[in-house]
Amino acid sequence: MNPADEHSPFSLAGRRAALTGAMGRVGRGIARALALAGAETVLLDVDLSAADEVVAGLVDPAAVHCRRLDLTDLERLEQNISELERELGPIDIWINSAYPRTNRWGLPLERETPADWRANLDMQLNSYCLSSRAVARRMARRGSGSIVNLASIYGLVAPDFGVYQGTDKSMPGAYAAVKGGIVAYSRWLASYFGPRGVRVNVVCPGAVASGQQEPFLSQYNRRTLLGRMAGAEEIGHPVVFLASDAASYITGAVLPIDGGLTAV
Ligand SMILES: NC(=O)c1ccc[n+]([C@@H]2O[C@H](COP(=O)([O-])OP(=O)(O)OC[C@H]3O[C@@H](n4cnc5c(N)ncnc54)[C@H](O)[C@@H]3O)[C@@H](O)[C@H]2O)c1
Repeated sequence: MNPADEHSPFSLAGRRAALTGAMGRVGRGIARALALAGAETVLLDVDLSAADEVVAGLVDPAAVHCRRLDLTDLERLEQNISELERELGPIDIWINSAYPRTNRWGLPLERETPADWRANLDMQLNSYCLSSRAVARRMARRGSGSIVNLASIYGLVAPDFGVYQGTDKSMPGAYAAVKGGIVAYSRWLASYFGPRGVRVNVVCPGAVASGQQEPFLSQYNRRTLLGRMAGAEEIGHPVVFLASDAASYITGAVLPIDGGLTAV
């Protein structure tokens, strides 16, 4: 069955889908999957310098809108979402894939200050929670809608720091707090708004391939059951599934997309 066929439950034909962080590594994969499923796609990002390139890669560039949105402008979120809907019409699907972080993000625990911690939780966790909440309230008034938030395997399990051995990379503890918080709050929203027709789900991707270097690459790959990292579209398609009517009885779900890393 062709997912863009409007009679397929997997189709997003006739749906308006807004995606934050649309210019990012994962966002681009989700944008391609949304377009392939026939959605009218609203690409939101704080930096639209790559917009022409991203839009050109989509199956129907005419069905795409690009708008600047700073997801961390928490005080203006309600107003910005309201303006978007006034301009483009009701948003049926909202997907958070933005990845705002401070320029000190990623410091080892010993050098991370309380201000670093607070700023990143505000940017990464509060932006997802407050935007989902604002969108869900609007969807609830219309009696339907679907939200998908991007968490991570590190919202489910702790990192095996062995995968970073021999590299200068690590995984900040604040990421666990952010992603675990997104998982828990998305479930809370699913419970609160379920009776009013709004579904809220979370995906937990593992690492997405982007030219990562050895020895991290093979150390990480060994932790997965499939022996490799994800392609961005391999995140996009499950997100589209959760957003679609094919998932009409799925809410409050947390879906790992991790090549089996969290299964063992
Ligand atoms: N890449 C991975 O391996 C991976 C793995 C697991 C989970 N994730 C999650 O997927 C999501 C996307 O990650 P990514 O790898 O695509 O990140 P990325 O850095 O490649 O892209 C993030 C995008 O968000 C945009 N952005 C930054 N600040 C913003 C703001 N204030 N408002 C709106 N947009 C803003 C950036 O301009 C960029 O286009 C994040 O939630 C991340 O935690 C990524």
